[in-house]
Amino acid sequence: MNTPSLTIENGGLSTLRVQVLLVEAEEATRLDHARLLEADGYQVHACATLIEARQHLTRHVVDLILCGMELDEGTGLELLAFAHCSMVGTPFILFSSVASVELAREALQMGACDFFVVPVKPEELPIILERNLTRKALQQREAIRQRVAVQRSQEGVLDALLSALSTRDTETQGHSERVTAYTLELADAIHLSPDLLYTVERGALLHDIGKIGIPDRILLKPDKLTEDEWEEMRKHPVIGYEMCVRVKQLEAASKIVLYHHESWNGKGYPHGLVGEEIPIGARIFAISDTFDAMTSNRPYRAGVSTSVARSEILRCRGVQFDPDLVDVFLTIADERWEQIRRFASE
Ligand SMILES: [Fe+2]
Ligand SMILES: [Fe+2]
Repeated sequence: MNTPSLTIENGGLSTLRVQVLLVEAEEATRLDHARLLEADGYQVHACATLIEARQHLTRHVVDLILCGMELDEGTGLELLAFAHCSMVGTPFILFSSVASVELAREALQMGACDFFVVPVKPEELPIILERNLTRKALQQREAIRQRVAVQRSQEGVLDALLSALSTRDTETQGHSERVTAYTLELADAIHLSPDLLYTVERGALLHDIGKIGIPDRILLKPDKLTEDEWEEMRKHPVIGYEMCVRVKQLEAASKIVLYHHESWNGKGYPHGLVGEEIPIGARIFAISDTFDAMTSNRPYRAGVSTSVARSEILRCRGVQFDPDLVDVFLTIADERWEQIRRFASE
């Protein structure tokens, strides 16, 4: 059985199932669809009447509406009109026992995202839901990307800081871009809110900005650092935080800069925070940073394969990294990580 959604609740990670409102007057079809979707991991609220469906929508959050054309005391189109006004963005799928092109066209024009004719094969119903949920997720991601692009273009401060860092950055070329892309992928997989995604993106880009304040003799030293030099180096999260927290647009992201070297088991720095004391964005970032460090070539060693890095992250589950986030990280295929790496390196 699948669990089609993961979401954040009260700062912690918990599994929550996709909430489906199923509305259909015909009892056999309603029960049949509800059974199929519940078996596939969806949380289904099923009802037969237009009034009950409206009441449910005004009182509960739903992720998707699956609605028959003929309802008790109304039609699917009436519910569509109601939902379209009050719940912009929630996928609304209409079905009918009548194969009518006109009806399908009218439904799509009114804002339905899909239309199908019943009966359907049992294995087809979850696929119909999945493709509409995926489409919605892609649209949301694109909207966030556009928003980030517009906001970033307005932020000379961010650009100035990044170019200052690039003059002193000792990490491999493109590290900040790759680690930001990995962080966004993981943040997206746990359905982080758009505002948090935006914060996480800036935090990831700026994570090592405090290295600007580390003396050259330490930052650029080719040999191993002494214990005193390490102590100096470990100040870079605090230096970075102090630089960012004063800039209004970077205030939220400054927490990620401050806590990007904290560890789930409390053995990180600068404050030795434990578990969920570490902000979610910094916990996500920690996995991405390690993943990129391992898979990138360095002058003194070649990067390891994605699957080797995956095993290492699993080994550090619950030690260095948030165990729930590692589980989500592991659900994302090697090919996807490699695709992001190529895209971010371009
Ligand atoms: Fe760092
Ligand atoms: Fe880094």
